[in-house]
Amino acid sequence: MDKRNLRKLPIEYLWEGLVLKDNIYDNTGATLLVPRGERITRDKLEKLYNFNKGDKNIMVHEDAYYDILTDTRISQRKRQKLTERVSGYGTLSDSVGGMMHHVDAWFESDELEKLVQNISEKLIEIDPVTIFSCINFPRPMDEGLQRHSLNVSFMNGMIGKWLGLPQKDVRILVLAGLLHDIGKTKIPEEILNAPRRLTPKEFKVMKQHPIYSYEMLGDQFDDAVRDAARHHHEKLNGEGYPDGLKGDEISLFTRITALSDIYDAMVSKRSYKEANLPFGVFDMLYRDEFKGLDRKLVMTFLKNVRRQYIAKRVLMSDGGIGLIRYIPVNDAAHPIVEQDDKLCQTDGRWYCREILTM
Ligand SMILES: [Fe+2]
Repeated sequence: MDKRNLRKLPIEYLWEGLVLKDNIYDNTGATLLVPRGERITRDKLEKLYNFNKGDKNIMVHEDAYYDILTDTRISQRKRQKLTERVSGYGTLSDSVGGMMHHVDAWFESDELEKLVQNISEKLIEIDPVTIFSCINFPRPMDEGLQRHSLNVSFMNGMIGKWLGLPQKDVRILVLAGLLHDIGKTKIPEEILNAPRRLTPKEFKVMKQHPIYSYEMLGDQFDDAVRDAARHHHEKLNGEGYPDGLKGDEISLFTRITALSDIYDAMVSKRSYKEANLPFGVFDMLYRDEFKGLDRKLVMTFLKNVRRQYIAKRVLMSDGGIGLIRYIPVNDAAHPIVEQDDKLCQTDGRWYCREILTM
């Protein structure tokens, strides 16, 4: 059998009338089910479902896999769902949602410990770009808080690893990310999810959340976790809240949480079209558009994150697939992409539409 990179794909991603240039195998890759060039009919789809006895996946080679996933019949939302399912992000996000609804019960059980363990394992198992794609995906309003908490947790862990911190510190960072905004569960829904700019009075209420987070995290939590929860909106220039801390008064773990928090807030504010693309946000970080962040930390973050994207597949604005070859330090918004053996810098007319991580 041809053993080129086989990829698993749910049968629901095939459609009637599809003709593939490559073979379709069963979920183990051992049995040829549809030879290349043959048209998928309704009858054949049904047979595929029946063949695997419960397992609704087939295997195809990499090129065929991307041909299917980037076809205009498959929406970005459908690709997102696959990434979240295969990476395990979706399940983790559901768990965080469960925690937000039952904070007291979670704090008294070992559920939280298990969640931190699961996130820490994902940080080892999954390609950082896949994690970043999940972070960058558009999110439904009512999942905003749970996804934000998980995203900051993931980013905290990644930055901790890039800084070479010991595992026990990475674990504290993961936990701090998960819980930094837990105080938002005490903010009235209409303020928390307001689809508009907050009034000064509402903003004052919103600004209480770091204090609520701090108060909700009792003595059983590490001081570093409580500190990050209380101070993740402080700025090095003293213009943050709630305590107006300055410079060295802000701990490393809190600075990391502030960076993760701002990054996630920025990607979530972007429109659906560009939500999958982190490059513009890298550029804003490089240009120091968010005053008060730790500059050295930002540069370490950018150095590492830019490296992760090299050789990743991207769906381009012309519908073709390219490979990211280089992200300029001083113009991160416009990566250099290879397509059909040619290298070109992206611009307003030819740009990356979506990172293909799976
Ligand atoms: Fe916050």
